[in-house]
Amino acid sequence: MKNIVLIGFMGSGKSTVGRILAGRLERRFVDTDAQIEERTGKSIERIFGEDGEERFRELERRVVETVCSGEQQIISAGGGVVLGPENIRRLKEGGGTVVYMRLSEEELVERAKRLRGRPLLGTGDREASVRDLLKVRKELYENAADVIVDMRGMRPEQAADAIEERLGLD
Ligand code: S3P
Repeated sequence: MKNIVLIGFMGSGKSTVGRILAGRLERRFVDTDAQIEERTGKSIERIFGEDGEERFRELERRVVETVCSGEQQIISAGGGVVLGPENIRRLKEGGGTVVYMRLSEEELVERAKRLRGRPLLGTGDREASVRDLLKVRKELYENAADVIVDMRGMRPEQAADAIEERLGLD
């Protein structure tokens, strides 16, 4: 089995569901944000604050490049990974399947209220930030996806079931 790559907006449950899938399928779990933090010794928030988004994207590209050389992994990709077309190309290299964990705008707005450590959601109007980002991102997620799984109302275990089923792994 090749890599399974989870993409989607912040708060859609990529890391939680990815860990469940990795446990069930006995695969290595990789989270691109965690890799960036490990490499730099800095939190995502600090990288954005001190070095800016552009630097963060550069680090993200490098991590994606490294991660993609591995196989049999469940990869949780940061929500902005779709901003780089080369990231998507790499994530699909070697037969990797990109799964878009889709949630409605309303659900994402709701979830965003509870998220911490997400500099792009800012300190002001979170709802407006989510809606603005989604305007640009929605299409990018859909275009990047090999498979789109709607996560509406699902708990993480159910979301993992749905992904397994769609990928024919159950
Ligand atoms: C980002 C999503 C975050 C993280 C960074 C930027 C984005 O990851 O990479 O804060 O641009 O959507 P999660 O999707 O895991 O929250």
